[in-house]
Amino acid sequence: MAMAPSKVVVLMAFMAAALSSVSMAAGLQHGFYYSSCPQAEDTVRNVVQGMINNDPTMGAAFVRLFFHDCFVRGCDASILLDPTTSNPQTEKTTIPLRGYDAVNKIKAAVEAVCSRVVSCADILAFAARDSIVASGGFNFHMPSGRLDGFRSIADEVFQGIPSPAFQLQELLDNFATKGLNAEDLVVLSGAHSFGLTHCNFVTPRLYPTVDPTMNATFAAALKKVCPPPRNGGGFISVSNNRVTDPNKLSNQFYHNVASGQVLFTSDQTLMDQTPTTGNKTAAMVTDNAANPIAWMARFAGAMVKMGGIEVLTRTDPGEVRKVCFATNNAS
Ligand code: HEM
Repeated sequence: MAMAPSKVVVLMAFMAAALSSVSMAAGLQHGFYYSSCPQAEDTVRNVVQGMINNDPTMGAAFVRLFFHDCFVRGCDASILLDPTTSNPQTEKTTIPLRGYDAVNKIKAAVEAVCSRVVSCADILAFAARDSIVASGGFNFHMPSGRLDGFRSIADEVFQGIPSPAFQLQELLDNFATKGLNAEDLVVLSGAHSFGLTHCNFVTPRLYPTVDPTMNATFAAALKKVCPPPRNGGGFISVSNNRVTDPNKLSNQFYHNVASGQVLFTSDQTLMDQTPTTGNKTAAMVTDNAANPIAWMARFAGAMVKMGGIEVLTRTDPGEVRKVCFATNNAS
């Protein structure tokens, strides 16, 4: 459910102070389009808000799209490219994600006010930020100035995107390859407080025996929704957060981790220890559960940091696409 504007504004003041120390990727800046397309950010925000009003699950779709874009050859909108004759295996042919049509609609609205000025990589970054405003009730500046890339390669998805079966050390290693640390991992995992998953990502923890780290009552209820895979239930949708409002981005995720009520091994393993980090991530889970406002500031900062991964800016090869699903010279 969207948060009342007054609450968003109250949090904005806090966020501005909290984010003053957040580092920005080289080449990105706040308000990159203020003179070249002053309506850009408002246009994205209005369209995104309308979409979330129509379907409250859409905020999660945009946030996940942004994560997947940034973790595979950087935040360059490579995730949005459709397959072509010359490149039939783009990123989007691998893992099904929601929201591609919606991003194309946002781009069309932006093109209607400023043609060929605002990149799809920035539109996705703004849409993710605006989803957080609408679904989480906190606001922050998302730096912009990204260019769109020319390439999208399916195989890179499996190298870049972490598996929900990963243990803590594998997650830490995966995030480290993107320049993100243990705190970024814990803080960004809070995105699993909203949105949807599919039973096939959960059933390995339910059958043949229930993962002992999962709360037994929670597991019993989940089994009623997600039958064993051989019974064909793999593609049933379930909410990431089965404890409170599944469309609200919040620090509820950390309460769910602490009580064994999360879906993935990769969520629950944040309570584990590694030889290098000890129980650091578990302590962060406890701290984020206890401090919702601090988590919001950390989440905003980590989204900005993630949004700076391997970006293409003015001196790099890149373009502003006319449409998000194809490069300007697509064949
Ligand atoms: C830490 C490693 C992560 C793993 C292993 C992971 C894995 C997954 C999986 C398996 C799903 C369900 C997909 C489906 O059934 O379609 C999912 C959903 C989601 N993930 Fe993650 N994820 C991770 C990190 C992140 C991060 C960093 C973010 C964003 C900051 C994020 C945001 C989301 C959102 C919002 C959804 C719901 C998407 C929807 O409703 O369509 N995840 N994740």
